[in-house]
Amino acid sequence: MGHIKLTNVTKSFGAVDVLHDINLEIKDGEFVVFVGPSGCGKSTLLRTIAGLEKPTGGELAIDGKVVNTVPAADRGLAMVFQSYALYPHMSVRQNLAFGLENTRMPKDEIAARIAEAARMLEIEPYLDRRPGQLSGGQRQRVAIGRAIVRRPVAFLLDEPLSNLDAELRGSTRAELAALHARLSATMIYVTHDQVEAMTLADRIVVLRAGRIEQVGTPLELYNRPANRFVAGFIGSPHMNFLEGTVEAVPSQKAIATLAGGHRLELPIGADIETGSRITLGVRPQHIALGAGDNSIPAKVRLVEALGSETVLHADVAGQKVLVVAPGQYDLSPGADIDLSLSAAPIHLFNERGLRLERAV
Ligand SMILES: Nc1ncnc2c1ncn2[C@@H]1O[C@H](COP(=O)(O)OP(=O)(O)O)[C@@H](O)[C@H]1O
Ligand SMILES: [Mg+2]
Repeated sequence: MGHIKLTNVTKSFGAVDVLHDINLEIKDGEFVVFVGPSGCGKSTLLRTIAGLEKPTGGELAIDGKVVNTVPAADRGLAMVFQSYALYPHMSVRQNLAFGLENTRMPKDEIAARIAEAARMLEIEPYLDRRPGQLSGGQRQRVAIGRAIVRRPVAFLLDEPLSNLDAELRGSTRAELAALHARLSATMIYVTHDQVEAMTLADRIVVLRAGRIEQVGTPLELYNRPANRFVAGFIGSPHMNFLEGTVEAVPSQKAIATLAGGHRLELPIGADIETGSRITLGVRPQHIALGAGDNSIPAKVRLVEALGSETVLHADVAGQKVLVVAPGQYDLSPGADIDLSLSAAPIHLFNERGLRLERAV
């Protein structure tokens, strides 16, 4: 139940190719998040799985059965949209019952399912109200409730929290995670927000321009991004990138020169050539202030003192570097500082933006 497999799935709208060769297997009970910038094809991919769009090529299977030509209503999936899509003239109870009445389910079974979902989502007090009499958060719970009562093999959620304010988004996100644990149903969740993806997902699928860039657990993507795009997309604030050239490759390391002439020692093995151009990636939280074995001189541009941490905007020979350092620092714009990378995980990417594996 709830096992979904896509093999070489493509989707075009007329001459516009929106999805390219999508291969993906989602396990039963998994919470999978599709993340990527606006317009990269997340909704199209979800709608294709749902049956609201027909794939142009490839194969889509649910629980081992190819469903390319199976209508949406017969796929056993339930979709939740950002816009809630509730019937405004019906009460919450009627909204929850509507899809079930159409299947001619016995009335007491419908009532039992509504009672269970309402209890789970804490919307019991609102069952006789209309959607217009509810807050955004309550409406979204009703929309989720309408999916729950159908007992689908998988839930498909397209940016369901985008219309909520930041605080409510956080609490509803936690509720959704708890709900997934309780229902143990497959969930596919679409968002452009990498924090949502990191906090909810068992596995994240990063999409860019209709292609899968990487699939992995949140920490796999954070610790070992496959390319520069994923490295820059996952993590907040995003990773710093510094351009450099490999100058020498003694054993188990490389010496690189950054733009501006500063030299750094990099822990990298054989798959790197002298003279090649590389990009160093370092997360803002991994840079320390102060000189060390591997430090680079920088100039402070802007200081954001947040109390618990200090966000420094610095300049390294014309390249912008952001540092998030715990604690408070007495620094002013224009100050000369040293940024130490000696304890930082350094990510290296080749000229094509692909990750270079580290030797040590
Ligand atoms: N029905 C459609 N007809 C033509 N182009 C479409 C249609 N639906 C989506 N697209 C295009 O497909 C691309 C991906 O859209 P979408 O899947 O909505 O992206 P996302 O959800 O990641 O923001 C966009 O360029 C969009 O304009
Ligand atoms: Mg979308």
